[in-house]
Amino acid sequence: MNNPDRLEGSTVILGVCGSIAAYKACELARRLLGRGAQVRVIMTKSATQLITPRAFSSLTSYHVAVDPFEDPVPERIEHISLADMADLILIAPATANTMAKLATGICDDMLTTTVCASDAPVVIAPAMNPRMWGHSPTQENAQRLAAMGYHLVEPGEGEMACGHTGRGRLAPLEEILAYAERALAEKPLMGCRVLVSTGPTRESIDPLRYLTNRSSGKMGFAIAYEAWLAGAEVTCVTGAVTVDPPAGPEIVRVETAAEMAAAVLDRAPESDAYIGAAAVADFRARNVASGKLKKAGREDLTLELVRTDDILAQVCRAPRRPRLVIGFAAETENIETGAAEKLASKGCDIVVANRVGPGGVMGQDDTEILVLQAGSAPEAVRGSKRHAARHLVGLLAQRLRKG
Ligand SMILES: Cc1cc2nc3c(=O)[nH]c(=O)nc-3n(C[C@H](O)[C@H](O)[C@H](O)COP(=O)(O)O)c2cc1C
Repeated sequence: MNNPDRLEGSTVILGVCGSIAAYKACELARRLLGRGAQVRVIMTKSATQLITPRAFSSLTSYHVAVDPFEDPVPERIEHISLADMADLILIAPATANTMAKLATGICDDMLTTTVCASDAPVVIAPAMNPRMWGHSPTQENAQRLAAMGYHLVEPGEGEMACGHTGRGRLAPLEEILAYAERALAEKPLMGCRVLVSTGPTRESIDPLRYLTNRSSGKMGFAIAYEAWLAGAEVTCVTGAVTVDPPAGPEIVRVETAAEMAAAVLDRAPESDAYIGAAAVADFRARNVASGKLKKAGREDLTLELVRTDDILAQVCRAPRRPRLVIGFAAETENIETGAAEKLASKGCDIVVANRVGPGGVMGQDDTEILVLQAGSAPEAVRGSKRHAARHLVGLLAQRLRKG
């Protein structure tokens, strides 16, 4: 099945600097290899003081480059050869020292010389003591590198190996990989703002119990991630999901349909596109019991339910409607008819229908969607949710480009 992963088949030069976080680069190399990338490692001399080149050569099955004057094959100049083959240069961890060198064009070792000789995108994930990160030259160098087009993965906050607490920890590997993938992706949505809603909502019955559904959030997260890879600024309003959100998009967590409506309607006017992939509850309890509903003395219990807000219809009717609105229709039967009715009645531009219920796609990694838009024949897309998301983001880019 189609693999939308941009890392697959790419050649990544992994630069490892003299940070105590260098050991994490071994796992990073493994993760890159696991996603189908070819990995060549360059270490700085300082990095070899903290971890041996053999660790990386064993993982990647390639010679690790450290010294530009030590060519493994005399017929070629190693740093030029590495620079030429790179689809991406990923420096993780990056030290304050190497960042300073790159920011000023110094090329006095294998890594900085290769970066200088390459036109591949460069992702830099710094790791250092919080004071080193906060040091004004380091901050200026980081800003300078970002302005020069380097993709910076901000370090995280927490306790450091040196015992200090603050910002400076190497970003989580998942985040570094997301930025690496984004650096390789085409950016048809650059400059666009995309709003996605995903996951189930929860409607309280009493302080302990709630009504919900089986949505996992995977489809909306896949769309949010693909839109982010395509260069958009993405906000994902997220219900009570069972999976981790992707790195990249801004995540806004909500619980109820009313909270989701407020969060979406607040952001929709500033968005170029809205994709409503959330499984929003259609009904909520008219009255939420203030104490636990007891079973003692009761044989049955009747809950009175009232309609929740129709978020999709409200977004479509809003005076500052996003240029493109995509709604999802979860159907258990007559998928195409249900979706066509939704397209006609809600005022959205595209409806994506899928089958839910027993044997359906909720919670699964794969999906089968039917895309309906006025003036076009329904289009079926089958595969992983990432694959379907990439297809929808392509459609989104096409429609937004047309204006
Ligand atoms: C044990 C140890 C850990 C270090 N950790 C870091 C670090 O996390 N980040 C950093 O910028 N420098 C760190 N340094 C300092 C760098 O190794 C030093 O600035 C060196 O010149 C960096 O060289 P490079 O940029 O060529 O790798 C550390 C030094 C030592 C001795």
